[in-house]
Amino acid sequence: MTIRTDQTAKNQDLMGFQDSAFQVKSSCAISMLTAKIKIADAELSLKLGRSVLIQANGRVKSTESICAKCQKKGFLPTYENALERINDIIGVRAVCSFEDDVYRMARVLSSHRDLKILKKKDYIKTPKSSGYRSLHLIVEIPVYFQGEMEWVRAEIQLRTPAMDFWAGVDHQLRYKKGRKEAFLIGEELKQYSQVVAELDLKMMELRKRIDAI
Ligand code: GTP
Ligand code: MG
Repeated sequence: MTIRTDQTAKNQDLMGFQDSAFQVKSSCAISMLTAKIKIADAELSLKLGRSVLIQANGRVKSTESICAKCQKKGFLPTYENALERINDIIGVRAVCSFEDDVYRMARVLSSHRDLKILKKKDYIKTPKSSGYRSLHLIVEIPVYFQGEMEWVRAEIQLRTPAMDFWAGVDHQLRYKKGRKEAFLIGEELKQYSQVVAELDLKMMELRKRIDAI
């Protein structure tokens, strides 16, 4: 087998991701996961007397980003490799009001029997070395398409507005850039992640005080 290394060849190996059947199945998976998150919010609203969900949205990773991630992780950028080893080709993000709401949302979603939870990554309890905080669920959801059912994998990121703010700034300034930028601002960003975590705690305490009245 000859290994092609030029960019065009790599993108050709990933052409399956541009296939319309793949795009349709992915957008179905996003719609279904978003619906599940909204239903979980409705259930929690009934119980708590307030909504926990601020916003939910999803995206399919671009072929360029899939290719870059294959390279970062050190495997050949092929359709099969990427599907098997990249969990966030399909991603849904739900922003929930408070830190305990993030766990409430995760618990309700985990109770859905048509949602397989493959992995739970708790970057709130144990933040990443960058300072990144969120709760990730790697899931599979059944998608019916053209007479067949397929379990489609996706990553659900659950976080508070404060975590979302930090991740957005980090993403813009450092995560997608190079080592130099990371080195320049990494330590400071990490400190601010701690500030944001304290803010999350204080906001939750405020809510609990109000709830107790
Ligand atoms: P990545 O190559 O970072 O995607 O690692 P992974 O596939 O092993 O999974 P991980 O749980 O580390 O990260 C999955 C996703 O979480 C990423 O695609 C980002 O959306 C988000 N993420 C992880 N680490 C960071 C970070 O340090 N900063 C920001 N802004 N987002 C992060
Ligand atoms: Mg990602």
